[in-house]
Amino acid sequence: MAETTTRPTLPGGFRSAEQGWPELHRIPHPPRRIPLLGDVLGANRATPLQDSLRFARQLGPIYRRKAFNREFVFVWGADLVADLADESRFAKHVGLGVANLRPVAGDGLFTAYNHEPNWQLAHDVLAPGFSREAMAAYHPMMLDVAGRLTDHWDRERAAGRAVDVPGDMTKLTLETISRTGFGHDFGSFERDRPHPFISAMVGTLTYAQRLNSVPFPALLRRAAQRNEADIAYLNRTVDDLVRARRAASGDGDLLDRMLETAHPGTGERLSPENVRRQVITFLVAGHETTSGALSFALYYLARHPEIAARARAEVDRVWGDTAAPGYEQVAKLRYVRRILDESLRLWPTAPAFAREALEDTVLAGRHPMLRGAWTLVLTPMLHRDPAAWGADAERFDPDRFDPKAVRSRPAHTFKPFGTGARACIGRQFALHEATLVLGLLLRRYAFVPDPGYRLRVTERLTLMPDALRLHLERPEVTAGATAAVEEAPSEPRCPVHGSRD
Ligand code: HEM
Repeated sequence: MAETTTRPTLPGGFRSAEQGWPELHRIPHPPRRIPLLGDVLGANRATPLQDSLRFARQLGPIYRRKAFNREFVFVWGADLVADLADESRFAKHVGLGVANLRPVAGDGLFTAYNHEPNWQLAHDVLAPGFSREAMAAYHPMMLDVAGRLTDHWDRERAAGRAVDVPGDMTKLTLETISRTGFGHDFGSFERDRPHPFISAMVGTLTYAQRLNSVPFPALLRRAAQRNEADIAYLNRTVDDLVRARRAASGDGDLLDRMLETAHPGTGERLSPENVRRQVITFLVAGHETTSGALSFALYYLARHPEIAARARAEVDRVWGDTAAPGYEQVAKLRYVRRILDESLRLWPTAPAFAREALEDTVLAGRHPMLRGAWTLVLTPMLHRDPAAWGADAERFDPDRFDPKAVRSRPAHTFKPFGTGARACIGRQFALHEATLVLGLLLRRYAFVPDPGYRLRVTERLTLMPDALRLHLERPEVTAGATAAVEEAPSEPRCPVHGSRD
C-alpha cells in the first residue's frame, strides 16, 4: 500500500471508461447499442453477472458495456488479468457494487479506499486473527456449529424431507463467523425463518446491486427507505453485540482484537465507529461467500456421485472413526479441498473484483490506461479461459487442482479470493471451515438431487445456487444416488453457456 500514499488522491465518484482509456474505441462492445440507454438489450436486472458472462463469450477477453451514460471495461483473458495483478502498477478499485456498500460498511476493511488510513490500521490489527494459531483455536467452535447442522440434517433425513442447501449453509456459516469472531449465537438453527440479520443483509446487498442498474438512485426511493431501515437494523444488532462485550470479557476473538488491540507500530486503536463498520463487514463477508461455496460444492457432489465416493473414501482413510477430527486432519483432506477449489473455479462466489491503474500505463502492452482508469475482472470467465484451463474448461474436474496440474498453469489464473494487498483476509478461515464441513457431510450422507433440478444462479453481489434442495441418504446407498442422477430426464445445463455442469 505504501505507493498509494505518495500519490495525490484521485477525486471520488464514478469514473466512466472514456475518461481513462484513451483507445477505448479498440475495445469491442455489444453490437446493438441504444442511444441514451446503452447496451441494455437482453440485460436482466436480476442477473447482471450472468449477463456479463454472456457478453464476454461473444466479445472476447476484454470488452466494454454502457448502461445509460456510464461505461465499464470488463477483462477476463488470463494474460490481461495476470498483468492487472502487478501491484506496482495496479491496486484495488472501490467502485460499483463495492462503493454502493459504503453507506453500511464505510471504511471497513472490504470497502475502504486504498488511501484511507483505517485500512492499514485495521489490516495490521486484525491479520493475526487469521494466523494458523488463531485458526486452530476456532476449529473446535467450527466443529460445534457443524454439529448443529448435522443434527438438523439427521432429523430431516429421518423425516424423509429434502434439505434446503443454500438456506442451511447460510445458517451454518453465519453461526460460525459470529461464534468464532464475536462470541455470539444468532440461534439460526432454532428458527424456521431466516434471522432478521440475514434478511437485512440480503436487503442491503440486493439494493447495492440494483443501484448499478438505474440511471438515477432517486428511481429507487421506496427501496432506498427499506435499505435505510435494513442498515439501521444491522447497526443496532452490532451495537448490542459490542455493548454486551464491553460489559463482559471475551476469549481473545476478533471482537476483542477490534476493541483492545493497539497497532504494533503506532499504538493506534480502532475508533468505536470503525469497530461497528468492521463487525458488519466481517459478519457479512465472513459468511455469505462461504455459504455459496459450500452450496455449489454440494451441488457438484450430488451431480457426480463417483467424485463424492472418492472424496468419502479419503475422509474415511484420513479421519478413521474419530467423531471429532482435529485441526491438522482437515488440511489432510486434499481431494475434498480440490472439490472446493473446482467449485470456486466454476462459480467463484464473489464473482468480480476491480483494479485501477496507479499511474499511466499500458495493459498487457496493448491497452493504454490513464492513472485512475479501472476495469472489472470477471473471475468466472477467467476461470473458464481455455488458454489457461484447456478446451474442456466447462467440465467439473477436481483433478485440475492436483499439485502437478497446478504447477503446469501460469500464475494468476485462479483468483476466487481476489489479488494483492486487498485479497481476502478470510481465505484460510473459509477454506478450513468449508473443508471440515464437506468432510463431515460426506461421511454422513449421500446427496441425491431432485431429478428435475436445473442449476440456476441467484445474484446479490455474491452467487448462490437457487432453490437447491437435496435428499439425504446413507452413504452405503450411493449406488441408488448414482441411479437417481443418471436417470434424470435430461442433464442439467450451465445457465450461462448451456453446457453440462
Ligand atoms: C469462499 C469464501 C470467500 C470468498 C470467495 C471470498 C472472496 C473475497 C474476494 C474476491 C475479496 C477481494 C475483493 C476485492 O478485491 O474487491 C475478498 C476480500 C475480503 N474478504 Fe473474503 N471471501 C471469502 C470468505 C471470507 C471470510 C470467511 C472472511 C472473514 C472471516 C472474509 C473477509 C474478507 C475481507 C475483510 C475482505 C477485504 C480485505 C481487504 O481489502 O483488506 N472473506 N474476499
